[in-house]
Amino acid sequence: MRSVISSVKKSRTAGTLLAVVIFLQAISASAGWPQESAPPRIDEEFTKQETIYRGRGADGTRGYITSRGLSDYVALLPSGFCNTLAKLGSADRWLDIGAGAGLAILDYYNLAKCARRGVKARAVAMSIEDRRSDAWKKQAASLDANRLRYLTGKRLRHYSPEELGKFQMITDVYGGFSYTEDLSQFVEKVLSLLEAKGVFYTMLQGVRLENGKDQPDTAYQTELLDPASGDVKVCSWLKKISCVKVGCESSSEWAPTERINIRKVCSDVSVPRLKLLEYQSGAPPGRRFQLAP
Ligand SMILES: C[S@@+](CC[C@H](N)C(=O)[O-])C[C@H]1O[C@@H](n2cnc3c(N)ncnc32)[C@H](O)[C@@H]1O
Repeated sequence: MRSVISSVKKSRTAGTLLAVVIFLQAISASAGWPQESAPPRIDEEFTKQETIYRGRGADGTRGYITSRGLSDYVALLPSGFCNTLAKLGSADRWLDIGAGAGLAILDYYNLAKCARRGVKARAVAMSIEDRRSDAWKKQAASLDANRLRYLTGKRLRHYSPEELGKFQMITDVYGGFSYTEDLSQFVEKVLSLLEAKGVFYTMLQGVRLENGKDQPDTAYQTELLDPASGDVKVCSWLKKISCVKVGCESSSEWAPTERINIRKVCSDVSVPRLKLLEYQSGAPPGRRFQLAP
């Protein structure tokens, strides 16, 4: 199978390709996981990724989409998302990780979609870079403090439990789940922020599908390997987490995509560790991880 990472590599020089192959062989040949810091090539990709986060398109840097509204979220997230949102009470809390401009939350506050008349949950939008619009600022100013919050300046993993509190629902549409270089730590953090019976709705494009209906010669964007370097589906990995119920809706309309819901059913959550093998900056990035033995 061809991956996005490998197809990008094709356009590089033979020397670079050889160095990458040697590096990958070195990791897989070593007993256990290498403990040293990320190798320089991955560091370079992280630096390029930062310019994507900060890029606004107009200034010549590569921008990315940060303005999906609630209808887009309904289309991209699993089928239960809109109903769960509509059932949230006014004391409940919704966290949108990687919210961009926070348009989905703004729509929720302003439209009748996915909401009960007059009842709105408290909502927190999180984005590495500040994408707040004037509309967001106006809406937030018109509400009681803490009904609408926008957190920016750092990644999910850098927030303490006290800073964030707990949530009944967490969403992520092309946010940290698609961009993080530490997928297992990211999922562990998300689950630690969920109340019991709370649910995480997310999606991932360019992955091996749970229903096996992948097109031949698919270019995968996020790849998971087992310790013997065999392919692992993202949903199979998620289903190994303790204390959760995972639902996956596979779709292969334009790219192999999983719509994922993870419900927390007890507190003793344990997420099987993944080690980052490769990271190719992009929107979203190409990533390859391997399950720890
Ligand atoms: C492509 S935008 C998507 C924005 C929005 N969800 C939408 O669909 O329009 C990616 C967003 O994810 C955020 N992001 C990426 N990694 C993150 C992380 N580890 N923690 C928090 N936010 C993250 C970025 O800062 C940005 O706001």
